[in-house]
Amino acid sequence: MSTELQTQLQTELEIAVEHRRNFAIISHPDAGKTTLTEKLLLYGGAIHEAGAVKARRDQRKATSDWMEMEKQRGISITSTVLQFGYQGFQVNLLDTPGHQDFSEDTYRTLAAADNAVMLIDAAKGLEPQTRKLFEVCKLRELPIFTFVNKLDRPGREPLELLDEIEQELGLQTYAVNWPIGTGDRFKGVFDRHQQKVHLFERTAHGSREATDTVMDLHDPRLKQILDKELFDQLHSDLELLDGVASELDLEAIHAGYMTPVFFGSAMTNFGVELFLHYFLEYALKPGNRNSNVGSIDPSYPEFSGFVFKLQANMDPKHRDRVAFIRVCTGKFEKDMTVSHARTGKTVRLSRPQKLFAQDRESIEEAYPGDVIGLNNPGVFAIGDTIYTGMKKLEYEGIPCFSPELFAFLRNPNPSKFKQFQKGVKELQEEGAVQIMYSADEAKRDPILAAVGQLQFEVVQFRMKNEYGVETTLEPLGYSVARWVLNGWDALDKVGRLFNTLVIKDLWNRPVLLFKNEWNVNQLIEDHPSLKLSSIAPITI
Ligand code: G4P
Repeated sequence: MSTELQTQLQTELEIAVEHRRNFAIISHPDAGKTTLTEKLLLYGGAIHEAGAVKARRDQRKATSDWMEMEKQRGISITSTVLQFGYQGFQVNLLDTPGHQDFSEDTYRTLAAADNAVMLIDAAKGLEPQTRKLFEVCKLRELPIFTFVNKLDRPGREPLELLDEIEQELGLQTYAVNWPIGTGDRFKGVFDRHQQKVHLFERTAHGSREATDTVMDLHDPRLKQILDKELFDQLHSDLELLDGVASELDLEAIHAGYMTPVFFGSAMTNFGVELFLHYFLEYALKPGNRNSNVGSIDPSYPEFSGFVFKLQANMDPKHRDRVAFIRVCTGKFEKDMTVSHARTGKTVRLSRPQKLFAQDRESIEEAYPGDVIGLNNPGVFAIGDTIYTGMKKLEYEGIPCFSPELFAFLRNPNPSKFKQFQKGVKELQEEGAVQIMYSADEAKRDPILAAVGQLQFEVVQFRMKNEYGVETTLEPLGYSVARWVLNGWDALDKVGRLFNTLVIKDLWNRPVLLFKNEWNVNQLIEDHPSLKLSSIAPITI
C-alpha cells in the first residue's frame, strides 16, 4: 500500500472509531430490556414506531421452527446485534440473551462490548442476574451506565437506589438526571448537567417519541405546572444531591469506578433520549485490546477481530452456523482473505452479514467496534483471532466463567460412540457448553458444565438432531466451581477434601466443585495455600 493510501486509511479509521460506540445491556428479566432497546431504536430512527421489536419477537415465537424446543418454550435463543445512527454516532447494541435462555453467551457478549448499560427496575433495585453480569463487567473494567426504569410506577426512593448501588456494587454514583415525581405523578426529569427541566407527555405505550418541554428550573411557569409539593420536593432533592453526591468524573467512569445514573421510563419514553444523548457523550469509544504482541490500537491499519459467539442453525432455511466477530482493528471488507491465528490457515471471508433481529443484511465493510456475522462452517471456535498482515496476531482469550450446573452426559448406545465423541467435541468448540472430566480415570463420561439449564437442553437436543445420539443426563449436585490456579501439586499437598468434588477441565487444570459458597469459604479458611478462582485462567 502506498504511503498516501496508508495515511488515508489511518484517517478513515480514526474517524470511524471516534464516531462508534458499542454497548450491551445487563439486566434481570422483566426490568424492561426489550422495551428500552426498542425505544433506543425509535430515537435512533432505526424503527419508526415502537412495537416492532416486540412484534418481531412474537412473530418469531410463532414462526421459528429451527428448534422444536424454542417453539415449545416460546423463547428466542438467537442473540442479535443492532446498529443505528444517532447524532453522528454509529451505535452498536450487542444483545445479551437473558431470561430462561441465560447462558455463557450472555457473558461472552460482554467480552465484545466496550460499555455496559445496567438496567434496573425502580421497584426492585438490584436483582440476581444483574449482579452476576455486573461481576463480569467489573472483571473487564467496562464503564457502566445505569438506567433506573419504570419511574411511572410506584417504586423505591431514588436516593435509596443510589445507595444500594454504592453499597452493594462498590460503584460511586453520579445522577445525571433526577426524576420529578414518581408513579402516577411522574412528570419528567431534571437534567443536572444542563440545569434544565424536561417535562414529558405520555403517548399510548410510548409508541412515538414523547413530547419534551424543556424549561429552566427557575422558570415561573414551572411552579404552576408542577404542584407545590412536587416543586418543593424537586428543589429539596436537588439541594440534597448537590450536598452529598460526588462530582462527575469521566476518568472514574471509564475505569468502571463510577456509574452515571439516569432515571426514566422506557415504556412512556420519559428520559430515554436524554439518556442516549449523555450515554454517547460519556461512553468509551472502541479501545485497545491485549494480544500476543501487546496492546493494539483500533486504528492499526491491518484488519483483526475475534470470535465471541457461534450460533448454530440460526436460520431455519439454511441450518447453518454463524460466527460473530468483533472487529478490533483496521477495516473489514467483504471477501477479504485473512489468517486464522489458531490453525495458521488462510480463510476467505465470504457472505459477511450484519444482523438486525432475524433479518440478515449483507455488509460491504465494517470498522473497529462493529460486529459481523460470518458463515464459514467448521472454521471458527470461540476466542479465535483472525487478522491480515504478516505479523501473527492473537487476542487474549475469552475466559470460561464459573458454571453453576453440572451433569454427566452419557451415551447408552455403544454403536454411537464415534458420533457421541464428535458431537461433544464440536459442541464444546462452538461454546455451547463447557466440558470437563472427572479426576477419577474410571469415570470417562464428559461432564457438562453450564451457567443455564437451557445449555443442557440445547446439547441434548442437538446431539439427537445433528449427531443422531440419544443421550442421558446425570445431574451432579454441585453448584459452584473454582479453578485451582496453583495446580495439581498444590492440591495434592492439602490431601483429602471434604464436601468437594475434584474434576479437570479440557486443559487438564484442576477444578473443584462445591455445593454452595459456604463450602468454598470453609475450604479457603482450612487451606489458605490453595489459590482459587471462579474464572478459568486465560490462555493466549
Ligand atoms: P425484559 O426484556 O427486560 O424482560 O422486559 P420487557 O421490556 O419485556 O418488559 C417487561 C414488562 O415491563 C413489560 O410488561 C413491559 O411493558 C414493562 N415495562 C417496561 N418498561 C416499563 C416502564 O418504563 N414502565 C412500566 N410501567 N412498565 C414497563 P408486560 O406486561 O410483560 O408486557 P406488555 O404487555 O406491556 O408488552
